[in-house]
Amino acid sequence: TPEPPKPLIVKDPEVEVDDGKQKVTIFFGTQTGTAEGFAKALAEEAKARYEKAIFKVVDLDDYAGDDDEYEEKLKKETLAFFFLATYGDGEPTDNAARFYKWFTEGKERGEWLQNLKYGVFGLGNRQYEHFNKVAKMVDDIITEQGGKRIVPVGLGDDDQCIEDDFTAWRELLWPELDQLLRDEDDATTVSTPYTAAVLEYRVVFHDPEGASLQDKSWGSANGHTVHDAQHPCRANVAVRKELHTPVSDRSCTHLEFDISGTGLTYETGDHVGVYCENRTETVEEAERLLGFSPDVYFSIHTEREDGTPLSGSSLSPPFPPCTVRTALTLYADVLSSPKKSALVALATHASDPSEADRLKYLASPAGKDEYAQWVVASQRSLLEIMAEFPSAKPPLGVFFAAVAPRLQPRYYSISSSPKMAPSRIHVTCALVCDKMPTGRIHKGICSTWMKYAVPLEESQDCSWAPIFVRQSNFKLPADTSVPIIMIGPGTGLAPFRGFLQERFALKEAGAELGSSILFFGCRNRQMDYIYEDELNGFVESGALSELIVAFSREGPTKEYVQHKMMEKASDIWNVISQGGYMYVCGDAKGMARDVHRTLHTIVQEQGSLDSSKAESMVKNLQMTGRYLRDVW
Ligand code: 2AM
Repeated sequence: TPEPPKPLIVKDPEVEVDDGKQKVTIFFGTQTGTAEGFAKALAEEAKARYEKAIFKVVDLDDYAGDDDEYEEKLKKETLAFFFLATYGDGEPTDNAARFYKWFTEGKERGEWLQNLKYGVFGLGNRQYEHFNKVAKMVDDIITEQGGKRIVPVGLGDDDQCIEDDFTAWRELLWPELDQLLRDEDDATTVSTPYTAAVLEYRVVFHDPEGASLQDKSWGSANGHTVHDAQHPCRANVAVRKELHTPVSDRSCTHLEFDISGTGLTYETGDHVGVYCENRTETVEEAERLLGFSPDVYFSIHTEREDGTPLSGSSLSPPFPPCTVRTALTLYADVLSSPKKSALVALATHASDPSEADRLKYLASPAGKDEYAQWVVASQRSLLEIMAEFPSAKPPLGVFFAAVAPRLQPRYYSISSSPKMAPSRIHVTCALVCDKMPTGRIHKGICSTWMKYAVPLEESQDCSWAPIFVRQSNFKLPADTSVPIIMIGPGTGLAPFRGFLQERFALKEAGAELGSSILFFGCRNRQMDYIYEDELNGFVESGALSELIVAFSREGPTKEYVQHKMMEKASDIWNVISQGGYMYVCGDAKGMARDVHRTLHTIVQEQGSLDSSKAESMVKNLQMTGRYLRDVW
């Protein structure tokens, strides 16, 4: 019989003891898997350091079925960590949305978290206005409600090297955990920089017979009634059109996915998530650099044959069995810059020692500046880096589990309304095509796919993609008579095309519509004035009261939507004063920030308020859901 566990010597009488073990819960709110990876890496290392504690990694969505359960269960936590990513306009990730709404907007609860010791690490990007808002809010509220912060909130910045931020935060955390969890006689352990604990995985090679039949990983009728990121649904491309005129040197695609018979539904203002594919040339380059043969049929597993988990729990989630070519096409992101953990994994499999050393150096604290310059600032892709280190040839399992991150779905604001297009989801997508500092031309994976998609109109053998709908709160006012202002230059127009379709349908059905003003912006009437005829049509039909367009490259000086807003300051003020709604969609870093400042100025000037009063008025508009932003 095994020896009973030795009771933990608890230095702090307040911590809960379970079977002689302190329970530690590590929550994550993740979108692309980074927060989840950090949570698991923390758990792995902590397990090795503190034998007498139990570490549980928990998806915030899976933690509780409803608000009451959150409250009930959190009350019992005594030591917890939160890894929380912030997206777009300061929003939580999908899997943290329910928790976040309840936690930040819920009722006053007093000091109910007195038994909780905690730490928060945020994942965000400093380029955005609401840098790490979710992490900061949760951290503040826990403290307010009695929790004891044992480590300052970590502000991970994805614009630089977020792995370094995580490593630095952990260094602050260990001494605190030592105090709480360490046995007197435990030897001190030295911590290492974060290298994503890739420990074990199992690769199974399959008989290629019948492989191609199974190679389609997501079918159409895949048995799921609810489609989400984990259960996307196959949708054909029904229509594809170029929206820019031939004189434009850029490209913008109008695409319509056919969702008839799929069970997929959407509302005006929602987003569509699209899983895209790498181009053949990208896949072939990867095959060549890795020395993989494309037809090998395989699968990766994080559990042993008997079903018990391997210790590589921080691996990217597995995908269905398929060929190497399919895996590289659908699942591997090889065009982003590799994380440091990926460089370490490459180093481990570099046969040339000088290449291995250099890779390790780049991932080490000493190589921090060079990593920032040579990898991040130069936006070197994983493929470019593998080309620079030709001896680094990781085996299949290592490559898919630890080197190449999963290819993520891309999100688009839907540009149609189900009132006009119930069986179609329209997307308005600008082509991403940038020259990188290394001279590489980076083509956006999804926007390029859309540009070259073959629509059903042209061929029965049309393009299709796995898609799903993500709900948003970017919605028209429930009362149609409330006036609205929409601001959306470029592809920021997308959701407003949906709004206008909806208003048109409402009007046809006899609804009384409040006034509406749309501020649109583009470079030049002859080039990129997208949906011009439709917009004029909406004005004629009365779905849109006023259309105001800023052309930024026609006159001698730049005209932007915010300049037009200043000209219409009193109209905007009137709408706000009458209880109207303001909507902004488009680029977060430049446009939305400038528009926000302009709104502040308008409120201040028109309302004869001082700056702080104007600010609280704008905040109030936001809090009451009358100033909504869909920005990226
Ligand atoms: P530009 O490219 O001439 O600078 C859609 O992309 C439109 O938004 C373009 O006319 C673009 O102008 C404009 N734009 C770029 N930066 C902006 C900003 N900070 N605020 C408002 N509009 C902007």
